[in-house]
Parts: sequence; C-alpha cells; structure tokens
Amino acid sequence: MTGEVFISGAKNSALSIIAAALLTDKPVVLENVPDVMDVRTMVKLIEYLGSQIKFKGDILRIWTPKIRRHVAPYDIVRKMRASYYVLGSLLGREKKARVSLPGGCAIGPRPVDLHIKGFKALGTLVEIKNGYIHADAKQLAGSVINLQGAKGTSVGATINVLLAAVKAPGVTEINSSACEPEVVDVAGFLQSLGADITGAGTSTITIRGSAELTGTVYRIIPDRIEAGTFAIAAAITGSKIAIRNCNPFHLAAVIDKLREIGVRVDVSRERIVVTGKSRLHPVDVFVAPYPGFPTDMQAQIMALLSVIPGTSTIKETIFENRFMQAMELTRMGADIKIEGDTALIRGVKTLSGAYVMASDLRASASLILAALVAKGKTVVRRIYHLDRGYEKFEKKLRRLGAKIRREKE
Ligand code: UD1
Repeated sequence: MTGEVFISGAKNSALSIIAAALLTDKPVVLENVPDVMDVRTMVKLIEYLGSQIKFKGDILRIWTPKIRRHVAPYDIVRKMRASYYVLGSLLGREKKARVSLPGGCAIGPRPVDLHIKGFKALGTLVEIKNGYIHADAKQLAGSVINLQGAKGTSVGATINVLLAAVKAPGVTEINSSACEPEVVDVAGFLQSLGADITGAGTSTITIRGSAELTGTVYRIIPDRIEAGTFAIAAAITGSKIAIRNCNPFHLAAVIDKLREIGVRVDVSRERIVVTGKSRLHPVDVFVAPYPGFPTDMQAQIMALLSVIPGTSTIKETIFENRFMQAMELTRMGADIKIEGDTALIRGVKTLSGAYVMASDLRASASLILAALVAKGKTVVRRIYHLDRGYEKFEKKLRRLGAKIRREKE
C-alpha cells in the first residue's frame, strides 16, 4: 500500500456539536461533518426534536426556531449512546428533557451518574422513570461541579454539563473536566455562538451563562482516531502513507508510541507521513484519558502488536470490557492473553485470513487492519459497526492499494 489519504471531520466532535446546535434558535452551518451512521442518527434525532436540516457533502445546516419535542426515545438512544447529548441542550434551552437511559454496550457498563450529578448541581430535578431520565428545572443556576469519576474524567459528562451551563445564569466551574480535543471543539463551537467559556482543554472549565446565543459557521476538527487508524495501516503493512487534513498535535501519544515501536513518523502542519519499517519492537501501551493513549485506538494498536516479535502489553484503564477484538484476532493466529485490564500480546510471524466478527466500532477497524497483513482472505462480519464511525473506510483503503470490498451480509 502507498499514497495519501484525506481525513474526515471528527465523528465525536460532530455528534456533540450537532446536539449543541439545539441551544440556539438561529441558523448554524457546520463544515467538515463526516457522513457516517452515527452522525445520521444524531441528525435524525434533532430533526425529531424540531430542527430543520440540510446535509450536503460535508456541510450540515441546522435551524431550530422552535423545540417541538423534549423526548429522545429508546429506539434512537439504544442505537447510539451519544444521543444523550440532547439532555444538556434541551435542559439549557427549555429547562426540560426526557432521554432514554442508554444502558450498557459491548464495551461494558457505561453509567451516566456524572452527567446526572452535574445537572443536579445546576439546579435540575433529575428522576429515572420507566427507563427514562427526566430532567426538569424551574431555573438553572451556575455552580461549582466536580466531575471526577471512579474511572477518571468523563468526556460525555463534561460536554453534557457544559451544554446546559452555557444557559445557566451565573458562573459555573467544572472541575476534573475531560481535556479531549472534542471537548475543546464543542467549547469552540459554543464560543462562536457567543457563549463565555474559558479553560476548555484544561481540567477546569469556567462558563458565564448567557441567555442569548447567535448563529454561526463552524468547522469541525479532523478525526484523530481515523488518522491514527491509517497510521497503523501504514505501520502494519510496512508502507508509506501520507495522512492529510489531520491535526498532529491531537495524535501526539499515538505518534510517540509508533516511534517507540520503530515506525518512522514525519510531522508537518496538517499532515503526517508514516513509513512502516521491517524491524519493529514490542511496547507497553497504557490507555488513559487525553493526552494519554486513546482508548479508541487500543483495538487498532493491538492488531499491530500482534505481528511484532516479542511481548507487548496493553493496559486498558477506561472501559472494562474493551478487548473484544482479541478473541477474533486469536482466530486469525494472534497470541493474546487477557488478564483483567491487561492484554499480553506475543507477536507472531504471520496472521492467517479467517471469518471474524466485529463487536464494536474500533474492533471492526482492528480486524480490518489485521486482515491487511493476514495470509489469505479475511471476511469481517457485522461491518455496520464500522459504518457508524468511519467515512468511506474501504474506499480510502482501496485507494491506498488494499484489496478490500464490501459484500452484502
Ligand atoms: C467518549 C467517546 C468514546 C471514547 C470515550 C473515552 C463520544 C461519543 N464517545 O465516550 O468514543 O471511547 O469518550 O475517551 O464522544 N463514566 C462514569 N460515569 C459517568 C460517565 C462515564 O463512571 O457518568 C465512566 C465510563 O464508564 C468510562 C469512563 O467514565 O469508564 C470514561 O467514559 P466517558 O469519557 O464518559 O466516555 P463517553 O463520553 O461515553
């Protein structure tokens, strides 16, 4: 494989920013929006709540003169957990929201206690009834909130509380806030609507609530996980890939790890060039909140480590059950043992093609990466997981020279 690949807009930023657009009754234009299933689901949800939508190319126009419904139904939330971002927006704009509890998912239990804690601190009455979160406030009020959870910071809770807080009169201080680039992106979007926010990207975000928000034209940041996935594609196949339209700063932990492995990574302003090498070294990966090594890259780097001679480890501290791809990689010949939150990977010489099953979004990318170097044909089933978050993944890989095609299941 060789060539260049253009990275799409960040799925996780887009999801929260689309929900955030509900906060204003003025038109919003979003650029660099990835056309992936999760984005389509979020668009459907805000349309249901009252937004008027035009989605063409990577431009999404949203106008919500009036909120028509306050309920995010189970049928939508069960498809995509990020639906819960409309809680913060509806609460901020209407002081009222009903959102189905998301429940667990393939990567383990995913509680929403920190979201609820934050809303309560802003003066909201929160109750769970019939599987739904009912959030009601007579009046929101700024407050000091600590969002430190048992597993560390929470991206979702930080963003959700931020969304409600921009409409809460007074000053809100979110402590132990998540520092991920997607949090900074949502804050940037809200600032472009006129919100007064400082500290996004640090562990304390301060918001001075305001009643009025304007419209905006806003460009979403590049998807750091998509960029990282293509970097691993270059590393695992030993090829040279120029990854364009990305933000190398957001990929620092991944780039560092690839260099430690022995892969060459050249960085310029909006581009990284990854050159795979034949002699690679095993490493220890410690998954942690940003700026640590991202949990959303854990499955992909496992595929790479499974073909590097020697013993590597991955410690996954954020999600309990996120090694689902390991069993499937093992079916392709990988030697991986899981002990609690740690995966022990003994590199094998070759993987062999097999029928494998994708269990979630990043696991599906991991299996495809492994398939790129496996001897023989690999068939990855349940590929709809991939479509949730990667735009034209197989097309982009094919352009780089991979032999990959989509078949109807
Ligand atoms: C977001 C990302 C996801 C990424 C994750 C961690 C979106 C749509 N998804 O998910 O791709 O893998 O960040 O970077 O942006 N937790 C609690 N209580 C809560 C909330 C979270 O205990 O109220 C725990 C979670 O179970 C998990 C940890 O905190 O163990 C981090 O989760 P969080 O950062 O909230 O992940 P999401 O926002 O769901």
